[in-house]
Amino acid sequence: MILDPSSVTPVPHDIPLPLPASEPFLELLLIVAFVAHILFVNLMVGSSILVLAFEIRGRRNPDYDRLARALAATITVNKSMAVVLGVAPLLVISVLYTIHFYTANALTGTAWILLIPTIIVTFLLLYLHKYSWDRMANLKGLHIAILGTAVALFLFIPLVFLANVNLMMFPERWTTIHGFFSALLLPNVIPRYFHFLSASLILTSLFGVGYFGRRNFPVSETFETFDKPALRRIFYSIALAVSLVQFIVGPLVLFTLPTKGFHGSVVFAIFAGAAVSIPAVWLMWKELSESQPQGKRFPAIVGYLTLTVLCMATGRHMYRGIALAEHRRDMRVATEQWVAESEQAAYDQSQGVARLAAGESPGKPLFQSNCSGCHAVDRKLVGPSLVEIAQIYAGSPEGIVTWAKAPGKKRADFPQMPPFAIVGDAKLRDIAAYMLEAGAKAKVP
Ligand code: HEC
Repeated sequence: MILDPSSVTPVPHDIPLPLPASEPFLELLLIVAFVAHILFVNLMVGSSILVLAFEIRGRRNPDYDRLARALAATITVNKSMAVVLGVAPLLVISVLYTIHFYTANALTGTAWILLIPTIIVTFLLLYLHKYSWDRMANLKGLHIAILGTAVALFLFIPLVFLANVNLMMFPERWTTIHGFFSALLLPNVIPRYFHFLSASLILTSLFGVGYFGRRNFPVSETFETFDKPALRRIFYSIALAVSLVQFIVGPLVLFTLPTKGFHGSVVFAIFAGAAVSIPAVWLMWKELSESQPQGKRFPAIVGYLTLTVLCMATGRHMYRGIALAEHRRDMRVATEQWVAESEQAAYDQSQGVARLAAGESPGKPLFQSNCSGCHAVDRKLVGPSLVEIAQIYAGSPEGIVTWAKAPGKKRADFPQMPPFAIVGDAKLRDIAAYMLEAGAKAKVP
């Protein structure tokens, strides 16, 4: 039988604690903190890939090796920024989406935890690569292999994050996911991964235009043949080429997103983001069509692409909100129910304790609501009196419990007693204790 996954969506109750700040504020904080973090992640991943490419090319053209080295010097700085700025979004998301985030972490458990050693190893490899440039000058192959390993790990890490944040949004899939690899197969993960990699390369290339094109960068001391326009040309070409790729990958991301989180506003934010990237691409092309790009369009390009990033991040956040709205509503109901039940249980318990303290049996009210319609203390009603019952069952309340759950047919002149198993053993035991006590008391006037 094929189960409809949505029919088995787990709806846990939330943790009923107040948020530390207002929800809209936390959401804004999440978007801003996440954008700040991801930009440095993009730079760190994108630079690693470009440094690898440049260093390989540098075996023929030493200026490319110098370019690789100068860019590599920035990676560890950007990496530190990415790590430090990653704390805030992780904290905010675990406060705003506690259950969803926790569940996604738990379901991708091993891979999620493996992130920590993987990231540490990757960072150590980056430091090794950065500080062994001179010492390994004659071991170029090994030097490149060290960076190659770091890049391979860097290419793996975002997959885990993407599988995780994607899994968060689809509670109806939670029961069918068994670890990281099955989460990878969620429809949207792979396209988003390539979207992220392209964004990393575009951002890093623009960073390269700004970093190597800035007024006080010592070009002539660093390179033999490259001048600033040549460096701009290298980075603009990569940015432009990958931007064009992004126009294919972007729609793929959009079309593989499950429709449940779509809404006019999400589509609007995403299309607005794509639209403002068009002038940026056009300006890159204009820069490249000059034989000596001077970089005067650079601020405008950065401005347009900043808007793109903000629109995309907002659209992404809105999608998550809408995709999760129904589940969060169900969770609110489950939470309210749970709170009400636990309050009732606490009240019942305090009542029971109070009655015991007053020397009153907790079985009395239960007897009254379940049995007193047919049983009175000292006279026959529909069933026998408690005096009679107390004589039969004196010292054996369990006997009453057994009977009440499945009454037999004993007295010819009485009707059949209905079964009371539904009341439950614990309550029946209280009732039985009360019946014996009240019956015994009434016998001795
Ligand atoms: C709808 C009426 C009715 C209700 C309500 C009822 N009983 Fe009875 N009960 C009877 C009748 C009638 C008999 C006698 C049955 C017989 O002897 O065949 C009886 C007999 C008994 C006996 C005597 C059994 C014996 O071995 O002689 C016990 C004990 C008893 N009931 C416990 C309970 C308890 C506990 C409850 C509440 C949880 C309860 N009854 C609720 C009708 C009722």
